Amino acid sequence: MIVLGIETSCDETAAAVVRDGWCVLSNVIASQHDLHAEYGGVVPEIASRAHVERIQPVVERALRDAGLGIDSIDAVAVGHRPGLIGALLVGVASAKALAWSLSKPIVGVDHIQAHVYSGFLSGAPLQEGADSLALDDAFPALALVVSGGHTALFRCEDPLRLACIGSTIDDAVGEAYDKAAVILGLPHPGGPNLDALAVRGDERAFQFPQSRLGPESLDFSFSGLKTSLLYAVRGYPGQPDPPAPLDEARRADLAAGFQRAAVGVLMLKLERALDRARRTGAKPRSVLVGGGVSANSRLRAELVRFAGEQGLGLFLPPMPFCMDNAAMIAGLAWHLLRSGASDGLTLEASPSSALTHAVPGAGAW
Ligand code: KG4
Ligand code: ZN
Repeated sequence: MIVLGIETSCDETAAAVVRDGWCVLSNVIASQHDLHAEYGGVVPEIASRAHVERIQPVVERALRDAGLGIDSIDAVAVGHRPGLIGALLVGVASAKALAWSLSKPIVGVDHIQAHVYSGFLSGAPLQEGADSLALDDAFPALALVVSGGHTALFRCEDPLRLACIGSTIDDAVGEAYDKAAVILGLPHPGGPNLDALAVRGDERAFQFPQSRLGPESLDFSFSGLKTSLLYAVRGYPGQPDPPAPLDEARRADLAAGFQRAAVGVLMLKLERALDRARRTGAKPRSVLVGGGVSANSRLRAELVRFAGEQGLGLFLPPMPFCMDNAAMIAGLAWHLLRSGASDGLTLEASPSSALTHAVPGAGAW
């Protein structure tokens, strides 16, 4: 089955063609970073307008790259939640128009759930040589979504059955990276720039806090880390002496300290989730990771180490599937369609997702 996926939840206009839920025939992403750079963050109205201008050429390009005509498409999938509502509406309206004109089914996909799924798409470095989905070896699984809008841990029975067992109580980790980058004077998008700078710094020069939120908590908090960085750069309240000048070396040390704390707390919570699962007799077989911050060099290295030590499989997306993309939407839609899901032209966009609310009892493992 060939699914055309569309994704417009934030500042990437994306379309992809995916066969049988894993084989990515094309993956086109038109990023709007240049349009938002001067504002230091995504401006929702600018994002919506840019999606309107770009969606049609992006879809045409995805079909061309896949070497397929529009008639070869069996279904249209669209990321319909969560995200910026004006941006989501562009994708949803385009998907409806296409599905209607082709008389094909349309299915709405949750963006967070699609990030969880992104490590199953073909080309994943740890699945090289795979010629079909490696799902049998993956589940049950623990999943970590680390993006600009969300940071959450999930217990997963299969690609469609997820229960949130922890989420951020304030900033998402990507958002913390982006704000930290602004504090350090780095250009937008902050996350990748901070990551690149951190590699050159001394990670022990500054000790930043890692919020644990109690001994058992699987929730995250990044606002304290962000404030600590702000104080280290601008000076602590009540401190008489001005802070040291922010030269290149100090900037790199601050970035390295921030990265160590941010990634450290992600790994700590993942370890806790695994401990808890094993204490209750559950046997997760793998870790699934997705979202823009899964491109982070330190996080990737730590995840490989952790999975190896714990004897777990690791489904970590290759770079083009870390950031917002439509391949993950089309891939997950295949499972939805096979399970009988189909939304029809009444499909609505929604700014929020029920997925990231911790489910009572979900922490049982
Ligand atoms: O998943 P995504 O493309 O969009 C959302 O769904 O939010 O994630 C974007 C986020 C941004 O905050 C960006 O700064 C962050 O992912 N990001 C990174 C890196 N690459 C992207 N953060 C840290 N290190 C990176 N290498
Ligand atoms: Zn995303």
